[in-house]
Amino acid sequence: SVLEMEVEQINKGGYEHYMQKEIHEQPESLTTTMRGRLIQGGSCKAKTVLLGGLKDHMKTIRRSRRIVFVGCGTSYNAALASRPILEELSGVPVTMEIASDLVDRQGPIYREDTAVFVSQSGETADTLLALEYALENGALCVGITNTVGSAIARKTHCGVHINAGAEIGVASTKAYTSQIVVMAILALAVGGDTISNQARREAIVDGLYDLPSKVREVLKLDNEMKDLAKQLVAEQSLLVFGRGYNYATALEGALKVKEVSLMHSEGMLAGEMKHGPLALVDENLPIIVIATHDACFSKQQSVIQQLHARRGRLIVLCSKGDAASVCPGDSCRVIEVPQVEDCLQPVVNIVPLQLLAYHLTVLRGHNVDQPRNLAKSVTTQ
Ligand code: G6P
Repeated sequence: SVLEMEVEQINKGGYEHYMQKEIHEQPESLTTTMRGRLIQGGSCKAKTVLLGGLKDHMKTIRRSRRIVFVGCGTSYNAALASRPILEELSGVPVTMEIASDLVDRQGPIYREDTAVFVSQSGETADTLLALEYALENGALCVGITNTVGSAIARKTHCGVHINAGAEIGVASTKAYTSQIVVMAILALAVGGDTISNQARREAIVDGLYDLPSKVREVLKLDNEMKDLAKQLVAEQSLLVFGRGYNYATALEGALKVKEVSLMHSEGMLAGEMKHGPLALVDENLPIIVIATHDACFSKQQSVIQQLHARRGRLIVLCSKGDAASVCPGDSCRVIEVPQVEDCLQPVVNIVPLQLLAYHLTVLRGHNVDQPRNLAKSVTTQ
């Protein structure tokens, strides 16, 4: 009806599609996610974090033998992005499980484990089954969801709400960035205050404060990404290479492209390039390489050189000011993003790829908010 259409227009807040609105509201959703959770200590107290829903279980989490992340789709990718900082700050081994695979294998879960279930909806059947399995095996179960009162929020022992606001587009965007931020805060909380990591912790807390403005800045790439989408619109396939903190960015960027634009796309660990993917490289296949400045930068530079030597069609995502040092001659297209603390860089880096997926979809004439064959919440196995 006309009324329904008008209500929908109001809900989209002036945007064409929910996905577009949700991409552009990330500076605000991230702010809401962090509200009340960062503590800028007074004169004698260090900068710290607070996760009310976990404070009674923090000792158990710190003492666990292992932390296991469990999720599906984008939620799994968000956990993967957070794994390195959680390992670094906590010293606890962190392993990753796709929910369905954990259940298929009946993989070992122990009483000494902390199992963290990441789900935007809190209702995903596979994640819920994995949760029931972990509960039976006696693990401490933590939920990270965007939905108060959801099944996963209710059945876990404790948890954190990401408070990103309702996400309508089937392709998850703002929930992904809010999940990463919550898990970075989780890493700070589990890590605790030690003298040795104080500078690192303070840099991360400062980085979190600055993140909404950095995301606002990276959103200005909208037109540039639309232009790139025009160049790529008729392609069959797109590869995305990342490593370290941005291995997850490669997986998530490729997932966005394939699920909404219906273009084949694969995210790959750059360290595995020589073990197969390199055979695909020619002058036609577009390849995005994520090479923002962090401890893996020189390795990514060498990946770019090797792809270039095989005449690969390169699109390089790099830190502002690095264009000349990442790009051999004029051989590649560069996307420059603001640099932030390494563990938060995935939040910034995914934004241009979300924009690319969005524009590709519009140009290819597909349904942005309800991609073919997909559902927002997969409540059946
Ligand atoms: C579906 C959605 C994805 C989402 C995944 C996990 O596949 O289409 O966008 O990432 O489920 O959903 P969850 O609600 O558990 O995060």
